Amino acid sequence: MGKGYNGFPHFLVYAFTRDVTSKIVISVTLGWVAMTYFIAVANQKGGVAKTTTTVSLGGALSLAGKEVLLVDLDPQADLTLSLGVNPGKVRHAITDVLFNWSTPASVSQRTNVDGLDLIASNPEMELAERFLPVRKNFEFILRNAMNSGSLSYDYVILDCPPSLGAITSNALNAAQMLIIPTLPEFFSVHALRNVLGAYRRIHNKSNPKLAYRILITMQDIRNRIHRDLSIQLMENFSTSIFKNIIQIDTKLRESSIAGLPITHYHPKSRSADQYTALAAELIQYVQKTIPQPA
Ligand SMILES: Nc1ncnc2c1ncn2[C@@H]1O[C@H](COP(=O)(O)OP(=O)(O)O)[C@@H](O)[C@H]1O
Ligand SMILES: [Mg+2]
Repeated sequence: MGKGYNGFPHFLVYAFTRDVTSKIVISVTLGWVAMTYFIAVANQKGGVAKTTTTVSLGGALSLAGKEVLLVDLDPQADLTLSLGVNPGKVRHAITDVLFNWSTPASVSQRTNVDGLDLIASNPEMELAERFLPVRKNFEFILRNAMNSGSLSYDYVILDCPPSLGAITSNALNAAQMLIIPTLPEFFSVHALRNVLGAYRRIHNKSNPKLAYRILITMQDIRNRIHRDLSIQLMENFSTSIFKNIIQIDTKLRESSIAGLPITHYHPKSRSADQYTALAAELIQYVQKTIPQPA
């Protein structure tokens, strides 16, 4: 029995979490069914740490005791690869949800990280941008799928491709929060215009509950422009920007080669600390915004 997208009161809910080896932990919640919180990580620019943020935040949230599902919506399948899964060999993928009506629960797979599941991407995802718009109400396929089956996760994070097309629209309609990773550099900051335009369009038209938060990534504190632009971004977006900033850390590249989130590959690294602090900031926001169990 899953946690509904909109959540409603139940008297008794058994949420099953699993330990790969032996025990099944049964947690019993009285009162409200905790909701699954959906996050889209999007920006039409590539190389701004969308995938790195998805996997690192996923790792940090799972260490905080949350059940997390990561969804790879990018045909390039970097998220799938970052978790040590070969996109060419997956049996089930996000395409089964988008094209074949499979439920998200039926196509998710465990990863090497406890509490962190994945819906993989595969090469077929290349077709999505072209063929999704042929379908009626195509922008809501993902949202409807996420609502239809039972999903027992605290957080679902949707890693988007570097474009603002049909796939990203699906993610923005399914999400309660859009995280926009951006570098504190001129071109990246300039490009925020487009992604904020897409946000406003969807927020005004079909998903009024969607909030957004900018996340400064790959900050080089020795670089004056990075420092100055970070300050400007903090001032301009004051309440719509994460207080925690992610600095440059080469260990993040190593962790994706190792197929693990940084929080599990190198827990003592600076970026593991920063993504852990970001997860705490996110959890605090969600707890303030969403009704919690009594
Ligand atoms: N904070 C960081 N410090 C150093 N390298 C990073 C950082 N964040 C991401 N990277 C690297 O930058 C590249 C692009 O990141 P990625 O997450 O794939 O971006 P996107 O998904 O937006 O295209 C990857 O090689 C990744 O390892
Ligand atoms: Mg990516």
